[in-house]
Amino acid sequence: MNFNALLQKKAQFVNDTLVQLLARHTRINSDLMQAMKYTLSAPGKRIRSALVLWCCELASGKTNRNAEIAAAAIEMVHTYSLVHDDLPAIDNDDFRRGLPTCHKAFDEATAILTGDALLTLAFEILAEEIDGPAVAVTLVRELARAAGPAGMIAGQMADLKAPAKKTQATQQELQDIHINKTAKIFRCAAVMGAVCGGANKSQLEALSEYGLKIGLGFQIADDILDVCASSEQLGKTAGKDANAGKMTYPAVVGIEKSKQLAKKLADEAVALLDPFGKKADTLGQLALALLERTK
Ligand code: IPE
Ligand code: IPE
Ligand code: MG
Ligand code: MG
Ligand code: MG
Repeated sequence: MNFNALLQKKAQFVNDTLVQLLARHTRINSDLMQAMKYTLSAPGKRIRSALVLWCCELASGKTNRNAEIAAAAIEMVHTYSLVHDDLPAIDNDDFRRGLPTCHKAFDEATAILTGDALLTLAFEILAEEIDGPAVAVTLVRELARAAGPAGMIAGQMADLKAPAKKTQATQQELQDIHINKTAKIFRCAAVMGAVCGGANKSQLEALSEYGLKIGLGFQIADDILDVCASSEQLGKTAGKDANAGKMTYPAVVGIEKSKQLAKKLADEAVALLDPFGKKADTLGQLALALLERTK
């Protein structure tokens, strides 16, 4: 099976898990449920959740229920982050995953609460559904750290304030922002999968570093796509970063250098998979696919 077909299969699996988990939470307010279903069922690529499942498979030879739950939880956190990122007070975007953003389809207050609901539900399902208290605590801690005020939120906060100046100092600042707002969640996905698969210390370290590198490369590619792709292709408004004066890789180092940096990160990520041999082929393909993606 080629890489895209493998990703599609994982995405379908994650979609089914999300539907099943939501169906079990019957006491959710119905207006809120409608908005949660709207955002969660929109066609996201499900890359972070696929990463959880692949890392579990790499560590243990197969996926398991804990990894499936962790994959759903990280997708909920990621989807919440997009709902809030798109709000008028942050990036003010009208389209996401080919559809009107949550605050456009519903209203701003509903979008804020939908994000809150997805974020908290992710932790609720980890606490309730993960088999083994020690594994549950590890997953909760990893996800909270990656998504929280020293992770994604730190990145989002710095992203709001960053000026688009082309100095050496801003390149370091830019890397820190991108690591916080995006790469730490990718690292977390890899670590969660590895933990669910019972990885040993050296496997965990390799997958953790791999995740951080592909996550940084992913955000660089996202910055490049904002310049080079069309809105139709992306399912979100292209050209927004330049209009908003965002500090992105293309703005700071230019398109060519951005592409080179993303390629270097993918190569370094692939090299980290060496100890796993052929079993890590899919993760190797993922690192390269993230560079070539068109949406
Ligand atoms: C978009 O992530 C936000 C970034 C961190 C760049 P994705 O490109 O993975 O979005 P979906 O989930 O496929 O919509
Ligand atoms: C978003 O980065 C990172 C998040 C943590 C949500 P962007 O603002 O570049 O993502 P897009 O381009 O809106 O998807
Ligand atoms: Mg943003
Ligand atoms: Mg945005
Ligand atoms: Mg972007």
